[in-house]
Amino acid sequence: MNTMWAGRFQKELDAEVNDFNSSIPFDWRMYKQDIMGSLAHVSMLAAQGILQDCECKAISDGLCSILADLESGALSIDFTAEDIHMFVEAELTRRIGDVGKKLHTARSRNDQVALDLRLYLKDEIDVLTGLIRELIGALLQKAEQYASSILPGYTHMQRAQPVTLGHHLMAYAAMLERDLSRLADTQTRMMGQCPLGACALAGTTYPTNRGLTASALEFDAPCENSLDGVSDRDFVIELASTLAILMMHLSRFSEEIILWCSWEFRFLELDDAYSTGSSIMPQKKNPDIAELVRGKTGRAYGNLVALLTVMKGIPLAYNKDMQEDKEAIFDSIDTAKQCLSIFTPMLITARVNEAAMKKAASAGFINATDAADYLVGKGLPFRSAYKVIGTLVAACIQRGKTLETLSLSAYKEFSPLFEEDVYEAIDLDNCVSLRTSFGGTAPVSVLRQVNLMRERLEL
Ligand code: ARG
Repeated sequence: MNTMWAGRFQKELDAEVNDFNSSIPFDWRMYKQDIMGSLAHVSMLAAQGILQDCECKAISDGLCSILADLESGALSIDFTAEDIHMFVEAELTRRIGDVGKKLHTARSRNDQVALDLRLYLKDEIDVLTGLIRELIGALLQKAEQYASSILPGYTHMQRAQPVTLGHHLMAYAAMLERDLSRLADTQTRMMGQCPLGACALAGTTYPTNRGLTASALEFDAPCENSLDGVSDRDFVIELASTLAILMMHLSRFSEEIILWCSWEFRFLELDDAYSTGSSIMPQKKNPDIAELVRGKTGRAYGNLVALLTVMKGIPLAYNKDMQEDKEAIFDSIDTAKQCLSIFTPMLITARVNEAAMKKAASAGFINATDAADYLVGKGLPFRSAYKVIGTLVAACIQRGKTLETLSLSAYKEFSPLFEEDVYEAIDLDNCVSLRTSFGGTAPVSVLRQVNLMRERLEL
């Protein structure tokens, strides 16, 4: 028998059970973090006199050679091992002999996996952060370029007030900036307390120094309760939740891209490299990428719910249920990374149809609020002005007119306050450029938003 627990058992694990129990098909990706954790652990054991320096050296060299061989491809993962932790340890012993068996002193796979997953997710958060920053960078650039391009702003999917495309895009940049901040928070908390040395659940009788491993692995401190250390998966759930929110943002953006690419809107045309055709309808150019991003958001939500559900009934401390955390969070990470890295170039290469946007904004009485504000400027209280314009809009609809094409004499039927300058007040460019309030849609305000974010994010 060659299983790790051969002393207690008389039989090999049933083959199907072995497959069922095994996590190496998905946790192999933590090999680097597993080895880094072991290196820190073994140095601490030597520093504390628990291992001799020569033993520490042999183990460290062995671990480094395994890492190098895995990276170069000289060593491939044995997928019949139970998990990555067992694989590395077995390979170590194969390479350096019995001294390899000392690595697991004052440690358990329970604190080991809690550590490895933190280290792995921390690195992935760095990658995700980079990808989100790239997308924000693209948005800032486009927002600057289209700071004064007008399109209808909608509420209830009804044309509401004219806005600038730059303003619209900066709204997405604001969402993504919050995603960055949530990722940073998640990472800070994740790296706050190091579980290594919590051992199986109760700590250890060896004279370990958990502060040493915690700081070597760049944690703020060792976790203060070993039971919590091995059984906490809040950090996984937090990241899954952060990614679900991120995907929700990408999904909303995708939805707008899909709408804007429709023949009804035609505000946007995706580059051929980022759209697909139909197998039967030759005229079609489909926004498949945006649709897939929207669709994949379901996975991110599902993974979050799966993780919450896995954890909800788990008594202290480690239970094997927790092995289920990895596939869910890895899938959320893979999904978010894939979506982000395809979304940014799709956005950069998309062509904006400024004429179609302006045309859509030029109908639908989108400047009615400005007409009311005009009367307020002439001394009418806002509620009264609102009513005059409401009546006027109804009349325009009846007469087949817009606010721009209604004659001044017709205007005067509704209020003697209307003068020739009303046309200037309802001119879309003026409507937009006068909204200079902080955070407003005016081009100067958009450029201010762009600059503030550029400075804050150093982009
Ligand atoms: N593969 C396990 C996991 O991912 C590692 C911890 C196993 N611990 C144990 N006592 N079986 O959770």
